[in-house]
Amino acid sequence: MPAPSPYGQAHADNSPEGVNSGAGILLEQLKSPSEHDIAVITTLWIATGLIPAIRDARQDIENCIKADHGSLIVARHPSDNQIIATMMTGHDDIFGWIHYLAVAKLAQNRGIGHELVGLAEDIVRSSGLSQIRVTVETPAAGDFYAKLGYELINHATDQATPDTIRNTIMRKSLDQ
Ligand SMILES: CC(C)(COP(=O)(O)OP(=O)(O)OC[C@H]1O[C@@H](n2cnc3c(N)ncnc32)[C@H](O)[C@@H]1OP(=O)(O)O)[C@@H](O)C(=O)NCCC(=O)NCCS
Repeated sequence: MPAPSPYGQAHADNSPEGVNSGAGILLEQLKSPSEHDIAVITTLWIATGLIPAIRDARQDIENCIKADHGSLIVARHPSDNQIIATMMTGHDDIFGWIHYLAVAKLAQNRGIGHELVGLAEDIVRSSGLSQIRVTVETPAAGDFYAKLGYELINHATDQATPDTIRNTIMRKSLDQ
């Protein structure tokens, strides 16, 4: 279980639908995003460099929600219910995956990213899979995932490798 953020522990189990707000952030599985939610998520993904400024997040959001094994998890700020972080997680029957992990700049370095990744790991583990993977776009994100126990893998050989330039998929074993 990841450490709770200073906003409070945002999830108590792996059922993220409206979990455990209390004084803390609310993690929610977003199944029917409003137009406002889509606009806020688009702004967040552009601001954190996940998509170019010309792109709308709508299609990616809808694809994730419709996917058989996909979940779009969002964190909302307790005071105004505004979305401040996102993460998509799912699996392809072999590996679990994390996509679109983004924490609003003002909310970074408070444990929210760690919490979201921990939740993805719980969800993947509860699907009976023992490995989770993420495509890492930037060195900073690579450092973040490395702190959480992820290692780079070599595309061609699927072996662990220290090469941080050509290989951008990181993985973590969920076997405990
Ligand atoms: C990467 C990101 C999700 C981290 O979220 P966050 O909520 O700020 O991270 P946390 O506060 O949970 O940090 C967890 C740990 O990672 C460390 N960490 C966070 N960002 C880091 C970074 N850029 N480089 C190195 N370590 C980092 C924290 O110091 C913390 O370590 P600690 O437990 O030893 O204190 C966030 O910075 C972000 O949204 N970045 C832009 C989008 C992005 O790159 N997403 C990833 C796409 S692959």
